[in-house]
Amino acid sequence: MTTSRQIPFARPWITDEDRRAVLAVLEGNILTHGPQCKSFEEEFSQFLGGDAHSVTVSSCMAALHMSYIHFGIGPGDEVIVPALTHSAAAHAVEWVGAKPVFVDCDPRTGNVTPHGIEVALTPRTKAISVVHFAGIPCDMPAIVDLAERRGLKVIEDCAIALGARYDGRHVGLFGDAGCFSFYPVKHMTTGEGGMFVSRHEAVAQAVGRLRAFGVDRTHSERSLPGMYDVPSLGLNYRMSEMQAALGRSQVRRIKDVLAKRAELFARYRRLLGTIKGVRLIDSADPRAASSHYCVSVLLDPPYAAKREDIVRRLNAEGIGTSIYYPQPVPRMTYYRKKYATDPTSFANAARLSDQSVAVPLGMHLEPADVDLIVETLSDILKTIS
Ligand SMILES: Cc1ncc(COP(=O)(O)O)c(C=O)c1O
Repeated sequence: MTTSRQIPFARPWITDEDRRAVLAVLEGNILTHGPQCKSFEEEFSQFLGGDAHSVTVSSCMAALHMSYIHFGIGPGDEVIVPALTHSAAAHAVEWVGAKPVFVDCDPRTGNVTPHGIEVALTPRTKAISVVHFAGIPCDMPAIVDLAERRGLKVIEDCAIALGARYDGRHVGLFGDAGCFSFYPVKHMTTGEGGMFVSRHEAVAQAVGRLRAFGVDRTHSERSLPGMYDVPSLGLNYRMSEMQAALGRSQVRRIKDVLAKRAELFARYRRLLGTIKGVRLIDSADPRAASSHYCVSVLLDPPYAAKREDIVRRLNAEGIGTSIYYPQPVPRMTYYRKKYATDPTSFANAARLSDQSVAVPLGMHLEPADVDLIVETLSDILKTIS
């Protein structure tokens, strides 16, 4: 059962066109806040469609952090945060001095539900943060409806959801802010990098200033070179021109990326459906179009108890794996210590963290790789009783 092929869990897709785009920037003199960032913002907005206004930033975490700063959320406030997500979602809340209130997920999709959010609201709740887990869009119309009734802001963490749509509308454009990541294993990359998105132009403009020291005018808007004012506090969360050039080149191919991921995911769905004792994290909601970020396979007992062994044997066969996410955030040491979390809470998130394994998906795979991965997993499971 030794596979001849090494299949990494993920690999960035960098073409000669991407390399030429980055080199062209290095041959010029403008390395930051220049035309590449501006064009990338416009082209990204065009891809999202609707009323998107985009702001290039240094990471998704930077976009999340600025969302809370911009909406004035701080000490004494609470923000709903999914238990099953990346720590960035909770850290952003902590950095403004507010309290993350964690909510468990739906065991089938890994997403928070409108009901789960509603029961966690208190008079101190100021915002709801959602993550579209594995690229499956949350039920955004119901979540936005709840937020509007309660006067709450909605921050969408779209780090792994580029291309995901609900009722045809791209995620990130339902709430008050959408935060995207271009970290290397994402749908597209700029090395590090991200995009802050809002359907409100004024919000995007304000966050654009916040990301660049709070400066009131861009280089082209200055009547005298070097002359500007700083009417508000700011940060430096900018993206460089080299990154933006890479992002522009990548976003041109995003439809191909999404199509291939969808095709491979459908193959996984079909093949995994024939194996007993495993379940794919997936959505049956016809209104939800996933971005197919990852193939997260939930193991039934007794396989779940042998997860580490299964992972090691897949890796030994040349198949890369990962786990989404390694622990529910409230169980991570910082949050467990600070909030004395009951380890038995967030049962669904804990089950996905403790009993799932994610297998490769991306442009580096061919359909035959999917067949090989599923066959290898199936063979390993047959040896476990
Ligand atoms: C859901 C989620 N949010 C935020 C992040 C952080 O993204 P970045 O590395 O761009 O800050 C990640 C990273 O994987 C993520 O999975």
